[in-house]
Amino acid sequence: MLQSHMNSLPILRAEYKELVKAALRAKRLAFAPYSRFRVGAALLASNGKIYRGCNVELSAYPLTICAERTAIFKAISEGDRSFKAIAIVSDDPEYTPPCGACRQVLMELAGNIDILMVNGSNRVKTMRVKELLPFAFTRRNLERTRKKN
Ligand code: THU
Repeated sequence: MLQSHMNSLPILRAEYKELVKAALRAKRLAFAPYSRFRVGAALLASNGKIYRGCNVELSAYPLTICAERTAIFKAISEGDRSFKAIAIVSDDPEYTPPCGACRQVLMELAGNIDILMVNGSNRVKTMRVKELLPFAFTRRNLERTRKKN
């Protein structure tokens, strides 16, 4: 897909509908005793495997990890390196976009994949990572200077 668009959950293609369901399941496992903001994510690998993730909060707040990063770190640590899409859900009736840190992690580890955000009315907003993180700093920036020195 080339640009952001909206859909309703029932007409989403089967693969992505499955992904959203996995994100909803992941949300049930959220560990958010401090914010009470429960988030679920599900990451679809190119081989069809789905990695679920939830947010995990700590009393030392900054150590908290978002649902999206839980999912992608699980996938990378299991050896997957190629991805198609990530679905993100919370209990907020509005869409839940990935935070800035997660955008950077997705760009570096998953590339320009589809990001499916589902609101409380089962509407799905799909955007690409590059739309949410334009002009990103990536490994290519590092590689250019390495060639020169
Ligand atoms: N959070 C996520 O897991 N993903 C997001 O996209 C936004 C924020 C979590 C982090 C924290 O546990 C709680 O939501 C409130 O910020």
